[in-house]
Formats: sequence, C-alpha cells, structure tokens
Amino acid sequence: MQDTIQSKRMSVLTYGCQMNENDSERFVGQLKSVGYELTDKLDQADLIMINTCCVRESAEQKIYGKIGELKRLKAVNPNLIIGIAGCMAQKDRDEIFKKAAHVDFVIGTHNVHKLTELIAEVENKKDKVLAVWDQAERLAEDVPAVHKGKVSAYVPIMYGCNNFCTYCIVPYVRGRERSRPMEDIIKEIEQLGQEGFKEITLLGQNVNSYGKDDKQEDGFAQLLARVDQVESIERIRYMTSHPRDMNQAVIDVICQSKKICEQFHLPIQSGSNRVLAKMNRGYTTEYYTKLIEQIRKKVPQASITTDIIVGFPGETEELFLETLEFLKTIRFDAAYTFIYSKRSGTPAATMPDQIPLAEKKARLQALMDVQNTISLEINKQLEGSVVEVLVEGPSKNDDTKLMGRTRTNKIILWDKQGPEQVGQLLSVKIDHAQTWVLKGKLYNY
Ligand code: SAH
Ligand code: SF4
Ligand code: F3S
Repeated sequence: MQDTIQSKRMSVLTYGCQMNENDSERFVGQLKSVGYELTDKLDQADLIMINTCCVRESAEQKIYGKIGELKRLKAVNPNLIIGIAGCMAQKDRDEIFKKAAHVDFVIGTHNVHKLTELIAEVENKKDKVLAVWDQAERLAEDVPAVHKGKVSAYVPIMYGCNNFCTYCIVPYVRGRERSRPMEDIIKEIEQLGQEGFKEITLLGQNVNSYGKDDKQEDGFAQLLARVDQVESIERIRYMTSHPRDMNQAVIDVICQSKKICEQFHLPIQSGSNRVLAKMNRGYTTEYYTKLIEQIRKKVPQASITTDIIVGFPGETEELFLETLEFLKTIRFDAAYTFIYSKRSGTPAATMPDQIPLAEKKARLQALMDVQNTISLEINKQLEGSVVEVLVEGPSKNDDTKLMGRTRTNKIILWDKQGPEQVGQLLSVKIDHAQTWVLKGKLYNY
C-alpha cells in the first residue's frame, strides 16, 4: 500500500463479457487501495482504463475508436494516465502503443492482480509500461473487488478455456482452464452475503468443467451444492455452460435447490451438425435436443436461452435453414445472435467458403425475426401470472419504475411505490409482456 497517492480520480470503461466486468471490479478494488476514487466524468479523471474485448472485430473497432477519443483528453491534461487492459490488450500487446501513442500502459489478462505495482511503475517512470504475461502465474486471489451493484455480484470460479471452438479467440487470450479452490469461492460468497448481496453469478467460460483440472469429475455439481448452503444468499446463477459438459448431476442439484435459478443458458451456436462439427463444439443437435428434453422434464418452468453464430465458413443457405428450423423446434426464451467474425490465428479464419457480409447480415435478420416472434409468444403466456422478482434498482430509462429479474432471468419493470425495496424479493404480477422485457404491478402490496 502506498499512502502518498491521495484522492486521485479514475474511470474504468468495460467492454465484453462478465469476466471482464469482474476483472474491472478487481481493477477498481486495487486502485481504491492506492488512493483512487471512481468518477464517471472522463474529463476529470487522472487515470482512465479501458478493459477490452476482442471476441469480434466489431468490438475491437469500437474500442480502438474509444481509445482514439481519449487523445483529446490527454492533450488537455498531459498528466492523465491511460491504460488498456483485457483480451485485446493480451492479443495486441505493444501494437497498441503503435496504434495509439497516447496510451501509457497495457496490462494483459494474466496480470490483473498486478495493477497496483504497474501503476506505481507508470507514475514513477513516466514511460510506457507493457505487462502482458503469456500465461497465468497463479490464480488472482487476494485481490480486492469493488462490486458495481449492491444486490447481485459476479464470482469467478474458473479462468480460461480449453475448448478451442474453431471460431473463438478466447482460449488464446485467456489461457488454459484454471479452477479456483472451492474453499476460496465459498469464503468470497459468504463475505458477499454478509455485505448484503442477495444474488451471485458464478463465472467461467465453461463452468461445467469446474474442477476437472483437479481431476474432480462432478466438481461443478459439488460446488453448486455447497454454494446452495450459504444462507444469506437467495439466488444463484452461473454462466456459461457448455452443452457438451452439462450433465444429469448438475440438473439434479438444480432441481433439489431452491436458490439456483431455473435458467439455462446453453449456447448451441448452430442448428446444423455439419457446421457444429466444423466449429469443434463436440455435440450434435440430437444430443442437444435430448439435453433440453431432460431439463424440461426435471425443471418444467426453466427458461432456456442460447447463443448462435450465423455465417460460419461453409454455412450454405441450406445449412442456415437447419438453424432456423432448430430454433422453431427448441423454442428458446431468447437467443443472442452474432455474425461470424474472422479472428486471425483461429482455425476458422483460414477455412474455405467464407460468407460475404451482406449474406451474413441477411441471415442474422432472418434469425432474429424468427426468434423475436418465439420470445414474444413465450413471454405472452406469462401475462397474468405472479412471479418472484429480485429488485435491482430504478429502471435506466424511467425512474418512476423499478427494475428486477425473474428467477428465469427475464427483466421486469413496475411502478415504484412504498419504501426502498432494492435487494428485496417481491411478487410482481405480469400484465404486459414484450419480446425482451416484462411489465407488471406489485402483487398484494
Ligand atoms: N464461453 C462461452 C462464451 C464465449 S463468447 C461459451 O462457449 O458459450 C460469447 C459468444 O460469442 C459465443 O457463445 C459465440 O456465440 C460468440 N462468438 C465467439 N466467437 C465469435 C466469432 N468469432 N464471431 C462471432 N461470434 C463469436
Ligand atoms: Fe470460445 Fe468455445 Fe471456449 Fe466458449 S467454449 S470461450 S466459444 S472456445
Ligand atoms: Fe471478450 Fe475476452 Fe470476454 S474476448 S467475450 S472479454 S473473455
């Protein structure tokens, strides 16, 4: 700890997935310990960090655009420190200094716990600092995290990914799977419970393989069962599950638990077996369909969501139509849909028959049209029912309304009334369902 630095201000901008959100919380935690305070006004900051994502090219372009914008602030305040973190930092390393000379430091995904040392070095050296290790030295424990909200918190249970889906850059920028010791995870969750958090989301690129690096076969099921016993926590979520590794043991624990939410996010990626094989996903549509049947049999009220990529190399119109049909068969509550983006260094980037952008866009639109209709139909069936909602806070667009989520992870809005309810579990009657959001009224209030 250094007590020489006081009341400096920092802003941390985060792109990408929940892993990045959590890393940012750990950046903020470390920076607070050396005297920085958070500000969302970039022009008042002494330090700006951008935590980056490189999963698709569009994300990268947006981020480089944002980095470019910061040049103006640096011109006004030459003492401003600008740091780039996250997956794009891990991938592009010192290239970032060449593309953006106003950047002061670049910190990789394996160096998250080293931020305070790095900042001291930047402040003293007044020179560019690159801290990008090729692999993890150890798990980033004992790093204080300052969580964004007060109700719901992310807790990483494992880092990295071993799957090497052929389109995906994540294994290259996040390294191999490393599971955190169960005791550390439970301790962190108990602490969060004591601080008043009600919901936790266990994070990992492939949570279902938790513990496999320690030769535990049913590690994730065991972990869920342990987390379920932490009394002060009322809701448990997890992401992301790989369909190949989701198993009966996990479904059984979810079934027996009152706290683990009835929400299954299982990225299918494509509804065509030919494409799935080329993606190296390790399952077929038949396997996936059986898995969903098992889930629906055991947890009938479950919501099921997915991720889909359109325009993977070699995806003909006919194979794309298989995906459309698959959506209609499974009837997902929601699907997060992406246009395939070529990531250099991944096997798919050099596969033949890359699909033209216009075609990919048309497929995305067709997919969204089908899915939106299904999502709305499913949500409409909820009209009139009363659901348990965890209150997260005011609605972003309308502060006369409160926002919360159902156990099935649907966003719901209702009119604010009565005393402060953030963090409470309330009953809300759904009176108007839309594709992405439900609207309702407090029930029996
Ligand atoms: N580990 C998680 C998610 C990682 S990235 C999982 O396996 O589900 C989140 C989503 O981004 C993926 O599910 C995939 O649908 C999408 N994605 C990953 N790489 C992509 C690429 N090159 N182009 C388009 N979408 C991609
Ligand atoms: Fe990427 Fe596949 Fe790993 Fe998910 S499971 S992070 S899509 S390689
Ligand atoms: Fe993006 Fe890295 Fe997450 S590439 S999706 S921020 S793991």
